[in-house]
Amino acid sequence: MSHSVETPTSAPPHSAVATILRVDHVTHAFGGYVAINDCSLDVHTGKITALIGPNGAGKSTLINLIAGFYPIQQGSITFNGQSIGGLPPYRIAQQGLIRTFQISRDYGAMTVLENLMVPPRNQLGENLVNVIFQPRKVAQQEKELVGKALEMLNTFGLYEKREEYARNLSGGQKRLLEMSRALMSDPTLLLLDEPMAGVNPALAQRLAQHILDLRGKGLTVLMVEHNLGIVDQICEEVIVMANGTTLARGTMEEIRAHPEVITAYLGGA
Ligand SMILES: Nc1ncnc2c1ncn2[C@@H]1O[C@H](COP(=O)(O)OP(=O)(O)OP(=O)(O)O)[C@@H](O)[C@H]1O
Ligand SMILES: [Mg+2]
Repeated sequence: MSHSVETPTSAPPHSAVATILRVDHVTHAFGGYVAINDCSLDVHTGKITALIGPNGAGKSTLINLIAGFYPIQQGSITFNGQSIGGLPPYRIAQQGLIRTFQISRDYGAMTVLENLMVPPRNQLGENLVNVIFQPRKVAQQEKELVGKALEMLNTFGLYEKREEYARNLSGGQKRLLEMSRALMSDPTLLLLDEPMAGVNPALAQRLAQHILDLRGKGLTVLMVEHNLGIVDQICEEVIVMANGTTLARGTMEEIRAHPEVITAYLGGA
């Protein structure tokens, strides 16, 4: 059995795996600084893929490019075979590609339940005409949404906290809330940027189990993560970034043995 690490990062042409997301030769500069440099990678459907690499490698920038928060200056990004480059984030989200967000100050001032009521975009209640002419339908949709939100909070162990202001949650509970909020939009691909950050080891295990459960339900996950123990535990595929581009791809075991990866981490420290 070969354990060689492929040099970046496309699936072999005859591979049976399906690709849900393809980043193809993408470049992005902040002013004169090239943060993402001719970067390509594939995310395979139904897998938990980790994006790892030293600080400043460009991981968060890439997540933001994929979710549409930064414009693509060069290259292309396709989701389910369709180009999403240049679409605004809400259009990308409507297609099922969702990233999590930290609980900001505004969201902290809302209750846990209210946080979950915000994201879906096509609620009838947002449209005043519907409120006036279809009040029953609006009320029904609202009721369904509350039911879905409460179910989500129950799954993530936040049901008891539903009336609490989000700002009063612990760091770990905030991560759980961020994840449940993203899931309200029924994503097919979930992007997570350091979901274990600031979380104690016990809760990290719970979050890891939640991510595995989501994968079990058919969700694909791409997660930036510095906790390599967790990556080893739950991520089937690992992509290493350094200096704005992908360096290697493989299982964690394969990645660990890769000389360029070792250099990138030690060099970056
Ligand atoms: N909005 C911005 N304006 C200018 N430079 C930026 C901006 N965002 C990121 N950068 C720079 O781009 C590079 C990549 O940053 P990025 O945040 O994507 O790295 P990262 O891999 O997520 O790092 P970390 O592991 O520390 O989160 C860094 O050198 C960073 O300083
Ligand atoms: Mg980052």
